[in-house]
Order: sequence, then C-alpha cells, then structure tokens
Amino acid sequence: MPRKILVTSALPYANGAIHLGHLVEYIQTDVWVRFQKMRGHDCIYCCADDTHGTPIMLRAEKEGITPEALIDRVWQEHKRDFDGFLVGFDNYYSTNSPETRHYADTIYTRLRDAGLIEVRAIEQFYDPVKEMFLPDRFIKGECPKCHAKDQYGDSCEACGAAYQPTDLIAPYSAVSGAAPVRKTSDHYFFKLSDPRCADFLKGWIVPPQVQAEAANKLNEWLEGGLSDWDISRDAPYFGFEIPDAPGKYYYVWLDAPIGYMGSFRNYCDQHGLDFNAFWSPDSQAEVYHFIGKDILYFHALFWPAELHHAGFRTPSGVFCHGFLTVNGSKMSKSRGTFITAESYIKHLNPEWLRYYYAAKLNGSMEDIDLNLEDFAARVNADLVGKYVNIASRCAGFISKKFGGKLGPCDRAATAEFEAAFARGEIAESYESRDFGRALREIMRLADVANLYIAERKPWEMAKQEGREAELHQVCSTALTLFRDLTLYLKPVLPALAEKVEAFLNIPALAWTDVWSHLPEGHAINEYQHLMTRIDPKKIEAMVDENRQNLLPSPPGGGAGEAGTAAATEHPARHGEHQQSEAKAETVATPWEPFIAIDDFTKVDLRIARIANAEHVEGADKLLKLTLDVGTETRTVFAGIKAAYVPESLVGRLTVMVANLAPRKMKFGMSEGMVLAASDERGGPFLLAPDSGAQPGMRIK
Ligand code: MSP
Ligand code: ZN
Repeated sequence: MPRKILVTSALPYANGAIHLGHLVEYIQTDVWVRFQKMRGHDCIYCCADDTHGTPIMLRAEKEGITPEALIDRVWQEHKRDFDGFLVGFDNYYSTNSPETRHYADTIYTRLRDAGLIEVRAIEQFYDPVKEMFLPDRFIKGECPKCHAKDQYGDSCEACGAAYQPTDLIAPYSAVSGAAPVRKTSDHYFFKLSDPRCADFLKGWIVPPQVQAEAANKLNEWLEGGLSDWDISRDAPYFGFEIPDAPGKYYYVWLDAPIGYMGSFRNYCDQHGLDFNAFWSPDSQAEVYHFIGKDILYFHALFWPAELHHAGFRTPSGVFCHGFLTVNGSKMSKSRGTFITAESYIKHLNPEWLRYYYAAKLNGSMEDIDLNLEDFAARVNADLVGKYVNIASRCAGFISKKFGGKLGPCDRAATAEFEAAFARGEIAESYESRDFGRALREIMRLADVANLYIAERKPWEMAKQEGREAELHQVCSTALTLFRDLTLYLKPVLPALAEKVEAFLNIPALAWTDVWSHLPEGHAINEYQHLMTRIDPKKIEAMVDENRQNLLPSPPGGGAGEAGTAAATEHPARHGEHQQSEAKAETVATPWEPFIAIDDFTKVDLRIARIANAEHVEGADKLLKLTLDVGTETRTVFAGIKAAYVPESLVGRLTVMVANLAPRKMKFGMSEGMVLAASDERGGPFLLAPDSGAQPGMRIK
C-alpha cells in the first residue's frame, strides 16, 4: 500500500543567500523524499521562502525597493540554487501568499475562540525617529558587564553575557542611531502557560514524534515552564495584519510554519488533491518536518500546541539535524568557508556535496563537518574509484566486441546483492535517515563488484582467443551490478543515475529492480564519461572567492544588518529568533576606532627570545617568562598557562611590547607584555616572527 506522506524543510529566510549550511537540510530532506518516491510511495515535498519580518522590511527600504520586489528577487535566487543542487521540491512557494494568510487567520481565530489568545500591554524600546518598535537585535549599546561598546540588545559578543535590551548602557537604535524611548503597546500572546498546552505537549514530545535526544531537551524546557508567546508586532511591519486588530501584525514566526500548509494548499489546488485528507485530526497521511536544531523549540513546542488547539492534526515527526562546520569550525567569511550555494556550483559538482553530506548524516542531531580535504578524498575514492570505475572498465568491451548487446548474467555473482536486498539494511537505513550506514553498505557491495571484476580480469580475457563468451558474461554481469549500485545511490545522486539510465538504455530505476537482471541481448548505449575526480585546486579557488576581508565597521555603529545569531538555541530567546544569513558565521570581535600612525609608533614592539619560562606558585593563569631582547632581559608575567607548558617555550622567538609601563603584580614586577591571539575559537596563540629575526629587532 503506498503511503501518503507530506514532507517539508524549514523555510529559508528571504533576506539572504542559500549557503552550504542550509544545504545540509535540503539535501537531507531531498534524499529521503527521493527514496520514498522510488519505493512507490505518494510523497510530496513542499517548501517556501519565509518572507515576513522587520529585517526584510528594512533591507528592502535600504535597497530602495518594496518588500514584495525584494522577496520576488530572492525567491528566484533561492529557486535557482535549489535546482542547482537537485533539490526536487514538488512545490516551492512563499509565505506571503493568500493560502498562508488564510491558514494563519484560521489558526489565530480558533486559538482565540478556544481562549488561548490574550492581549497584554508591554513596554518596549521604540525608535522615535524611525517611529517603530525595535527588536532586540536592532538596539545596540554598551555591555552592562564588560562595557564593550556597540553590543546588540540580547547578548554581548565580547564577553558572551546575555541580558535584556533595557540593561544596555547608553542604548541607541541600530536603524536610525537615535536614543530609543520606552513605549507601551498592546501585544497578542498565545497562552502556552495554559495547562492545556503543557498537558498536551507532555504526551506529544516523545519518540517517534521527536528523536530521543530532542525529547530530553524539550522536556527540560517544558519542566522549566512555558511562557506565553508574543505573536504580534506593531506597524510598520511586513507581514499579515491580524484580522480583529488593526495595526497589529502576526510575528513572522507565527506565520512561518503555517507557510508549510500554505505551500501544500497551493499544491493541492494545482493537482486536485484534498488538503483535509492530510491535515484533519483523523488524517491517515504522514507529515514530517525536517529542521535544524536551532528551531526545534518552534517546531516541537509552539507548532504542535497551535495545531492541536486549532483543530488540525499534529506532525507525525519532527526530524532535527545538527549544524554544519567547515574544517572543524563554524563557517566563517574571513576564512572563506562561508560558502554560498551559488559559488559552490560555479566551481564544483553538486552531487559531490550531496554524496559527502549523505555519507556524514546519520539521523542524529550531531553537528556535521565538511572537511574539505576529506571531501575530495572521499568522493574520489568512493564515487570515482569504486563506483564509476565498474562501468568504465567493462562498458567498452560490450560496445567494441559485442555490438553493444549484453550477454548472459552470472547468477552466482549477483547472489550477494540479492541477499543484501533481502536483508533490507539499505532501505531501513534510508528510512531512518541513517544515510551514512546506507552508503557504507552500498560501498561494501561496490567492493564485492570490483572484486568480481578483479578476479576475472576482463582486460586479459579480451586479449586471449576463445574467451569471448566468458568476457561477455563478466562484463554483462558487472553492468548488472553497476545498475544495482546506481539504483541504491539514486536518492543521493539523481542526475548521475539519470545518465546511467540513458547509458544502460533502461527506464527510470525503481527500488525493486534488483530482482531482475539486465536481459541477454539488451542493447546498451555507448559509455559516456560519468563523473570526474575532484581537483583540490577547484576547492581552493572556491574558498578564495568566498574569503572576505572583514573591514572595520564605521566607529559608532550605524545601520546594522540583521546581525549574527548563535547557532544553538537559547530557550530564553525564542521570542526573537533572528533572521540572519550569518547564523553560522563566527562572531567578529568589534573593531577599535581608527588611530593615526603616530599612535601606533608609540608602541615599541620588539622581537624577544624566551630565555626561560616557569610556573608561578599560586597563579592559575600565569607563566613567568624571562625575555632576551638583545641588550637586556625582561621579566614578564603572561596569562598563557592554559595553552603552553613552560619547557616548550624556552628558546623560541616571540613579540613583546617593550615600552609598556612596568606593573607591579602580586608575584613580582612585570616589565612588558607578550602578544598572543585568541577568541572563542581558541587560544591564546603566541606570535612568532619569520626565521631570521633576532632578539631586540624593532617591529614596525
Ligand atoms: N525561516 C526560519 C525557518 C522557518 S521554518 C517554518 C529559519 N530560516 S534559516 O534560513 O535561518 O534556516 C533554514 C534552515 O536551515 C533551518 O532549519 C536551519 O537550522 C538550517 N540551517 C541554517 N544554517 C545552518 C547550518 N550552518 N548548518 C545546518 N543547518 C543550518 O530558520
Ligand atoms: Zn560584555
């Protein structure tokens, strides 16, 4: 019986480009959907751009266009990128649609009628120049803890403190620069604190609706008590006006998940499908949402609570994945690892990335790392070395020696493949989103196929008289095995699989084709090159192209972008989830104001040789360094104990500030300072000069 399945991926914000972080999710979902379709299920994949909210409104204004024009343009760009990565949505729509508005109004009205909406006056920062209320991220000021300047209204990037915007010292609006004033207005709240919500959710947040690891986290949040959720924003706002509340708009996160319904409804209307068969409480269909871990709270608490109390079915499952790191760190613009989909496509084949991500995905919420060296090695070894190699070694003989027609298939050789199919491990792994396990099993079978060829050596048979029949059988069998591997890889490599279908002259592969061999006498087409190896130079070129110099922002702030947001969820912050393309970007330390060259030359920087390094009795962080600066030695206490064992430092060169006024410390006089780099990614890392530098040389 074919299953009826509706699948969604999170709706990407319409204010930024699709990048390799996003693609973890869209590729994961697409592979799963393609697998379901190959198995013969009625699986529909819907998505849309998430188009509402303050950042989009302000960005359009800055570009001098309407928000509608902005979201139209971004829709085209997103669609182009998803097509490029072979993400096969059945419908890619927009939350700024009549369907989404309809379901937003329906859900809002039903929640209101159920007594779950409450109006409350709240006080917030207001920009008197721009005449708008300011979301936390659009208020800046001095950090109340460490006094770093120009920090955002929710947390400090210098010291990591989290606080309320009202705690900022000397706050200013990042939109106009004006000092914000406090102003009261009515807000609409979804009463999540109502016991009906907690009671319902307690029963709902269990496997299989959510992963076991997600259930733990969600239960923690639930036990901490759910606060009411502010679902309205005041004009000016780009979004849907609330029907019975003029001047009030649904907060973007209220209508975003409803956009799943909007996109699906739009699909139903085009294809004569019954929306209610999927969304009514007694629906027999399955509904799955693929999401990243930063938006779990919205999808596994707010969303099911809304749906349930508004008389809709709740999701069959929320599938949550981890975040992408590149070479072990968060994607970073300065390192060139914040790679857009568009620039990847310019340099590299999208199916390489699909394969690599699939190999790393296991259905858990762990982060996944794109190690660029490993990426090239893995794809080259598996796809080119093991898989494509099978066809390229055997196909030529069929066309040259046998008129392009296949011979008999060796039943004994396909037995292992049939046994593997019967065990069902590959299908099960795909179903449970453990794509890594599926691909390991597929590569094991590729090894079996390669061994079959290696043991028989068709290239030698081809040179020997009288072995034509054998050669014909070996190559034909190998191509049947190749066909089977292609079938298994098809959810991951749909374009390659299509090329293989054309080469083998067969209809679109279906999951159960493993049971039938390519028949004797079947004519195949001339072998065409299927896939090249990754050239690491192309990866370098891509990274170079994405490397951006982080220029200092003008002193005093100015109109900011949406800013950066933490990659992991912070339960206290779900009222103001950030719309930021920089979700995954490393936070840059704020730049100091410009100085004149004279200010710089006041700092006497010298090369120093560490003549001695030792622990300091009673100090947790310090090492005592004796520095040879050519003409004299200096004693410096340096806060680098966590990163260096003293013995490892003795003899090496570093950089010191030689004219820092001596400072009396608890442990003795410190006569200067050594230089080291650090931020949340690690450190301190001591500086070192190139070889040739001598103690005492001036640095300028
Ligand atoms: N618009 C919201 C989602 C609304 S869903 C009703 C949003 N958009 S987003 O563009 O920021 O992110 C879209 C999806 O991509 C999210 O599921 C998010 O977790 C995922 N990712 C964004 N950056 C990511 C990484 N660096 N790594 C993995 N997934 C990431 O959130
Ligand atoms: Zn701070």
